[in-house]
Amino acid sequence: MKEAAVLLLLLAAEASSRSHGGWCEPGCDCRGDLKFAICSRAGFTRPPGRVPATTELLDLSDNHILTVPPRSFSSNRKLRVLLLQNNNISAVEDGGFSQLEFLQKLDLSWNRISALTEGFSIGLVVLRELQLAHNRLTGLDSRSFLHLDGLQRLNLTGNGIHTIQVRAFAPMSSLRQLHLENNRLTALRSGIFSMLRSLEVLNLAGNRIAETEMGVFKPLTSMTLLNLADNQMSAVYFKTFLSIHTYSTHILLEGNPWNCDCDLQRVFRKLRSIQRLFLDDYFNLTCQKPPVLRSYLLMDVDTELCIAETVTVLIITITVVITVLAAMVMGERKRKKRKKGRSGGVCWTGQVTGIHE
Ligand SMILES: *[C@@H]1O[C@H](CO)[C@@H](O)[C@H](O)[C@H]1NC(C)=O
Ligand SMILES: *[C@@H]1O[C@H](CO)[C@@H](O)[C@H](O)[C@H]1NC(C)=O
Ligand SMILES: *[C@@H]1O[C@H](CO)[C@@H](O)[C@H](O)[C@H]1NC(C)=O
Repeated sequence: MKEAAVLLLLLAAEASSRSHGGWCEPGCDCRGDLKFAICSRAGFTRPPGRVPATTELLDLSDNHILTVPPRSFSSNRKLRVLLLQNNNISAVEDGGFSQLEFLQKLDLSWNRISALTEGFSIGLVVLRELQLAHNRLTGLDSRSFLHLDGLQRLNLTGNGIHTIQVRAFAPMSSLRQLHLENNRLTALRSGIFSMLRSLEVLNLAGNRIAETEMGVFKPLTSMTLLNLADNQMSAVYFKTFLSIHTYSTHILLEGNPWNCDCDLQRVFRKLRSIQRLFLDDYFNLTCQKPPVLRSYLLMDVDTELCIAETVTVLIITITVVITVLAAMVMGERKRKKRKKGRSGGVCWTGQVTGIHE
């Protein structure tokens, strides 16, 4: 009887400590059977130590955390979601997330991270989603995402990325969405997307891409959406897009300074006839060059400029053909004349032979 009362008392104490967050770092709110720890806007400058081991979602957004030291979350191995957006993180030290073998989503957007070291991704074996938008990344190399082979969604929007080494994305063969909008890419070298066989969405809008190498999109055999809007492309190779071997892909190309010469128009005419490619914003494409066509819609100049060119080409072709034909006819006549002369000679020789016989 006495023991039961003690037990009851203990349980009551536990319940009250839960409801008042006694197991929880001050500033955090631990709820939902201690599966959620909400610690946002609490002024933390480092990851808090006292978060229940049962926590599956830890929200540390809107604090002032500066770095993520090694094994920062070693007592929270059950975490599935870790939110660290809107802090002041400039470095994730090697192994900062190393114990989080169940973590599925990590949000590090709106921080000041300028480099991803090899140790950054150690231990994140089942991570599905990584948000890194609005940081200070400038380059990606083969170590940046080394241990993220389960990643499906990567958001790198709004960094200053201008170089991507050929093997940077290679470890992420399960990746489905890659968001690279609003960075500083100027060219797409073939090979940078070579291992992304599962990639469905590739968003490259708002960069400074002027050049796309012909084979660069070829490995992306699952791609359904390619967004190249708001870049610096004035021309494209037909083969760059022809090499996309998918079932169906939507391509966005608005907001580029197109040079609407006849080459470009030919390329687009051919592209639009490819059944599996959908140029969704074709009717919105505007010309920047040549100067007379500035801010015209590409589809409007379609008939004006190039028909004129076609007519010119046709006239030149016809002129050349006529000249050649005339020359041939003249040549034939001359040959016949000469032949006539010569055939008389043969006749004569024949007669001579005849005489001999
Ligand atoms: C972030 O850190 C820098 C120095 O590392 C400091 O100057 C700045 O005030 C901090 N910003 C916030 C919002 O804490
Ligand atoms: C990428 O991050 C930005 C900024 O946080 C956000 O607005 C956008 O919705 C994100 N995109 C995806 C697909 O997660
Ligand atoms: C074309 O531009 C208009 C006006 O900017 C916009 O409303 C529309 O969504 C665009 N169409 C496509 C297919 O992007």
